[in-house]
Amino acid sequence: MKKHISSLVFLFLCFSVLGQTSKDDFYKTIPLAQNINSVSGKPFVLSSITKIYSPKNNAGLKQIAVFLSEYIEIANGIKLQITNSPVKENAIVLENNFKDKNSEAYNFTANQNQVVINGATSAGTFYGVQLLRKVLLENETKSQIELPAVEITDYPRFAYRGMHLDVARHFASVEFVKKYIDLLALHNINTFHWHLTDDQGWRVEIKKYPKLTQIGAFRNETQVGKQVGVYDGKPHGGFYTQEQIKEVVAYAQKRFITTIPEIDLPGHMVAALSSYPELGCVGEGYEVYKKWGVSDDVLCLGNEKTFTFLEGVFTELIPLFPAKYFHIGGDECPKKRWEKCPKCQTKIAELGLKKDSKHSAEEKLQSYCMSRIEKFLNAKGKQVIGWDEILEGGIAPNATIMSWRSTQAGIEAVKQGHKAIMTPSSHVYFDYYQSTDAASEPLAIGGFTNLERVYSFEPIPNGLTEDERKLVIGAQANVWREYIKSDAQTEYMVLPRLAALSEVVWTNADKKNYGNFLNRLSDFLKIYDKLKCNYAKHILEVSPEYKVDTENGQLILSLKTSSKSPIYYTIDGSEPTLQSKKYSESLIINSAVTVKAAVISENYKSKIFTKKFEFNKATAKPIVLENEPVDRYRFNGGKTLVDGRTGTTAFSTGDWIALYKDDFEATIDLKFLQQIKEVSMNTFTSPNDWIFGPKQFQVLISKDGINFTPVHSEDLKIAEKGDGPKITNLKAVFVEQEAKYVKIKAPIFEKIPEWHYSAGQPTFLFVDEITIN
Ligand code: ACM
Ligand code: ZN
Repeated sequence: MKKHISSLVFLFLCFSVLGQTSKDDFYKTIPLAQNINSVSGKPFVLSSITKIYSPKNNAGLKQIAVFLSEYIEIANGIKLQITNSPVKENAIVLENNFKDKNSEAYNFTANQNQVVINGATSAGTFYGVQLLRKVLLENETKSQIELPAVEITDYPRFAYRGMHLDVARHFASVEFVKKYIDLLALHNINTFHWHLTDDQGWRVEIKKYPKLTQIGAFRNETQVGKQVGVYDGKPHGGFYTQEQIKEVVAYAQKRFITTIPEIDLPGHMVAALSSYPELGCVGEGYEVYKKWGVSDDVLCLGNEKTFTFLEGVFTELIPLFPAKYFHIGGDECPKKRWEKCPKCQTKIAELGLKKDSKHSAEEKLQSYCMSRIEKFLNAKGKQVIGWDEILEGGIAPNATIMSWRSTQAGIEAVKQGHKAIMTPSSHVYFDYYQSTDAASEPLAIGGFTNLERVYSFEPIPNGLTEDERKLVIGAQANVWREYIKSDAQTEYMVLPRLAALSEVVWTNADKKNYGNFLNRLSDFLKIYDKLKCNYAKHILEVSPEYKVDTENGQLILSLKTSSKSPIYYTIDGSEPTLQSKKYSESLIINSAVTVKAAVISENYKSKIFTKKFEFNKATAKPIVLENEPVDRYRFNGGKTLVDGRTGTTAFSTGDWIALYKDDFEATIDLKFLQQIKEVSMNTFTSPNDWIFGPKQFQVLISKDGINFTPVHSEDLKIAEKGDGPKITNLKAVFVEQEAKYVKIKAPIFEKIPEWHYSAGQPTFLFVDEITIN
């Protein structure tokens, strides 16, 4: 509603109590400012005669004045003059002497004469300018616009507000990286984590090691989607010269964004090994990785040349990156090669590293490596960040942990007195699907992180002491680009989830509200349109909510949208149009049906939501699980298995549930004695994701719920090396007989098989839709 009221109504509202709200609303953008107080008085009129003032001899503020003038030109089509002679009237005044202990805080006041944006440092002024820029962009493009009188004081909740970009899996041009940095600035993000090296490509010029970019920056071809062993035959690559790196770092710095480089070590190094094979344990036969997943080939830590190499790389990077932090990776490093490598084993012996109850000798070897590199970087004035695996084997003495597998490692780190940055894949992996309708999304790595989930993320876990809380310096979202090939797709994966992240890291938790955020977001999307960004439009489309009513044996489908236009739907398979039924209340489903729905107005039709519901004797029947699914894949618990919806290979979108370390066992109550002859259940396997099926599939039936008779039992094989993601329908067919209860037992494989990079770890067991006929 905000900002679209006609001027007559606006005038009226200004004199009413409601007017207060409406005036505040003008400045409510994303991230929501901490304190917005409307004050009495006439508005400031911004027009082509308005001047932007920045004080003499203050290059920082002058640069911000130039940005502001550019922003206003884009938003309002007028070019304002910048001056350093004080102006009393009709000026936007930029200052940086606001007294606040938070260096990024700012004070923003508007009255009839002036808009004053005063930061505690220039960074604060920059964020005040971002706020003005955003509210101007959200309004209609007008050469004259009224800014209501206001007093805003604002500051970020967290000092570390990060966004990551993987340019190793797919290269991104300097031009796009700059656009990405512009997007970070728009969302008040102050740290750009640049993932520059990985198995699939080395992307930064190192003069001492030229082969890194002559060989390591290019791969001959790339795996096609998730098809293991199928390649596209097209070379891919690219790298940044040191000059280009400097250019990007300076570009970010101007926008108060610190660029942190990541050299991922000692794993994720196949591109480097292909360039300098002597750095690997095997010493030959490497090729820049053309598939996805984790390679067993890693740096040989028994070879001093490895350390000479790493120190040589960092020695060249240090002058390029003024950041305090350097990211040294440490994630997903298989220890297989080290176990067999004489040099690594000699090193382990020399260092006296011994397996103990918590860590293997090889894990300690990795810790030795991380600590040694940390020491090298500390001596040059740099601090290190590592992924959470660097806790295994003992954390390097001064390292900051980037907690990605969950927030647990972050908790452990702060309990040990280390700093932590929270980037849990459960909430802030922007390479994950953002809709449950994965079939109509671009292929993604998996997972499920929709806008609401990102917004719900709380970086500070419960149960920490005050001192421990302070060690959580912030949060970050990660954009791994195995399946993200283009600039447009990157924008699609990032926007508008970045808007949700922006509020997670900027706005105090007690001021956050998802409904309110969605309202503001529908205005904020206009900014993406004006800046020509490709964003995901799910909030303007149909978003479903599913319920299983086991009492009445029916499914309930509710349809929602943040669009102002209505939803129309069909249940006969036809395309919804303005002539179809208008959605007003939840749909009750008690037979097989395909629902199609879309948000439709005279001149707009959203993407069509399509959901097929199956109905059989198990659907919407009471179900009891012997063991609880894991939190992350619990969704609707046992009801997920009888909800009429069959999961696809997008395994984290709510159609599948998963067990971890526990066996699957479910009992379904058919409610009355019925003839049955077939029971089936789906299972999903994806070795790369630690997901293996059950080792057995057993079906038992009963008339009384106490005495069960086995009707089917089969042993199943564990996935083999090279197997990709796969859905298997486990089916029991037996002589037709009467039953009221059906029990399915599917025990889990205890351990990941020997061939796997995580051999010996527990597996996940995924199950979905049970059918009984
Ligand atoms: C990671 O996602 N491997 C840090
Ligand atoms: Zn070795």
